[in-house]
Amino acid sequence: MTQEQWNVVDRYITDLFVPPDSVLDEALKTSAAAGLPPHNVSPNQGKLLMLLAQVQGARTILEIGTLGGYSTIWLARALPNDGHLMTLEADLKHAEVARANIARAGLADVVELRLGKALDTLPQLAAEGRGPFDLIFIDADKPNNPDYFVWALKLSRPGSLIIADNVVRNGAVVDAASDDRSVQGVRRFNELLANSPHVSATVIQTVGSKGYDGFAIAFNNFND
Ligand code: SAH
Ligand code: DHB
Ligand code: MG
Repeated sequence: MTQEQWNVVDRYITDLFVPPDSVLDEALKTSAAAGLPPHNVSPNQGKLLMLLAQVQGARTILEIGTLGGYSTIWLARALPNDGHLMTLEADLKHAEVARANIARAGLADVVELRLGKALDTLPQLAAEGRGPFDLIFIDADKPNNPDYFVWALKLSRPGSLIIADNVVRNGAVVDAASDDRSVQGVRRFNELLANSPHVSATVIQTVGSKGYDGFAIAFNNFND
């Protein structure tokens, strides 16, 4: 299997299940035009996030890592009218592009973007009594994933869903001796998920237009 085959099949799936959408298409276009890295989830991964939020019946969502707001828009579309999504982004340029895309999507009243390093803004949220969130999507700097999991637990409740992107990293995740801080962050994160008494979790490998990677899914079941 090659990247080219994955792309062709991803296009087949996207053509079937993700019809052109001017808001989402424009979010990707403005992100690329502003020089943002192409690290957004793919269209069918975005739709998976929306479906998971719908299955979850999520009314409140926390996202760590906004980029240009592409995954933010997918997730926010799953919310009811009185729902709320908090998204955390450290880079001012990314935040500005995202705010414009979120406004264009008609989601400015539903989405709140906090600018700052997530390890600074997460304690602020907790101090403000925000949460618990019904769904938390972790998709920022991977070396901090272990800390993000601890915060996700603090800001969730039994029944919350915690999802993380990029937990396979082209297969590098199996290399215990890797000197890549992102690989080590993801390895530690996966171990925390696997060993936490607070969640029931697994990891699914993915291939497609974003290469070979994976999603982690964890259900907060502490009171089970
Ligand atoms: N969720 C987005 C992609 C996010 S890419 C999507 O699928 O569309 C990762 C983002 O995390 C980048 O925008 C990067 O600037 C941001 N980021 C990196 N380190 C961060 C930190 N410490 N705190 C908050 N955001 C951070
Ligand atoms: C990177 C980050 C992501 O969230 C992603 O989906 C792909 C790549 C990165 O930092 O390389
Ligand atoms: Mg990602």
